[in-house]
Amino acid sequence: MSSPSALSSEALAAIAKARTKAELEAIELEYLGRKSGRISSLLSGIGKLDPAERAKLGQAANEAKRAIEAGLAARQAEIESARLADIAETEAIDITFPGPPLGRGHIHVLTQVRRQIETVLESLGYQVELGPEVETEWYNFEALNLTAGHPARENWDSFYFTPELLLRAHNSPVQIRAMQRIKEPPIYIITPGRCYRRDAPEATRLPYFSQVEGLAVDHALTVGDMKGTLLYMIQSLYGKARKVRVRPSYFPFTEPSFEFDVTCGICNGMGCKSCRHKGWLEVGGCGMVHPQVLRNGGIDPTRWNGYAWGFGIERMAMLKHDVDDIRLFYESDLRFLEQF
Ligand code: PHE
Repeated sequence: MSSPSALSSEALAAIAKARTKAELEAIELEYLGRKSGRISSLLSGIGKLDPAERAKLGQAANEAKRAIEAGLAARQAEIESARLADIAETEAIDITFPGPPLGRGHIHVLTQVRRQIETVLESLGYQVELGPEVETEWYNFEALNLTAGHPARENWDSFYFTPELLLRAHNSPVQIRAMQRIKEPPIYIITPGRCYRRDAPEATRLPYFSQVEGLAVDHALTVGDMKGTLLYMIQSLYGKARKVRVRPSYFPFTEPSFEFDVTCGICNGMGCKSCRHKGWLEVGGCGMVHPQVLRNGGIDPTRWNGYAWGFGIERMAMLKHDVDDIRLFYESDLRFLEQF
């Protein structure tokens, strides 16, 4: 028969291996069960021993019992804390906890500027007119007096899909489409949208950019009407302090033609580094619509005349926010975009 101390070490070894509360309970019953537990059985023949032996065995059995009880309690505590740690790890997500706030985007600065331009001109009665970015050679060039072999075509060199199909080099083809669609003047439209040119990216130009072109066709319009409209637009966008001027220029689709300048907002026209000491910044071209262009749009130039302009939206945004490199608008750098 085993001695009490052999029994207790056997029990402690079993306790150490136990992994669950149920296993511990089984061990407790096996060793400490009051009737058939192994410690109790050890004491079943104790009456036959002489008193000294009896006391010794009784004491040893008691010690074994206490050691087993202590072992059970300690292991029980370990199992419980392991169970809690497990829960903490596997069920750590508190689904009732509010999530981190989602970052919220905002409208791109070029879209903001485009919408501001649209709002101002719509308040004057202009309507937004859209056209295709993939355009035919006729609308992009021919209809605008840029006939085949015309040297000015070089200024609008674009990207061709076929000899007849290209990415539009400006938004002027939409003027022709609008005249053909509306047919009967008065026509007051603006055409915002992307256009493309065969230029290498630089601080002032890109192979793709956006324009807002405008077209007015009515009775007896004058350069003064055009200048007044553009002055109103510029001052609505940039404030009353801005001045505008037109400089004689050449476009095959307008006669007379002008470049359109706005005073630099940094120096108020005094001349500074950012306007290269000119005091003026060029925004685009404008002029009175050439009679042949009206005819190409199906409008009788003996009854009607018109003016048109084409401004770069990026240029307008640079003017508004004093940005000195056009490429920044398309680099998707949040440090830049978040400023607007
Ligand atoms: N289409 C011209 C350009 O892209 C701008 C322009 C439009 C000039 C209308 C005069 C009249 O450069």
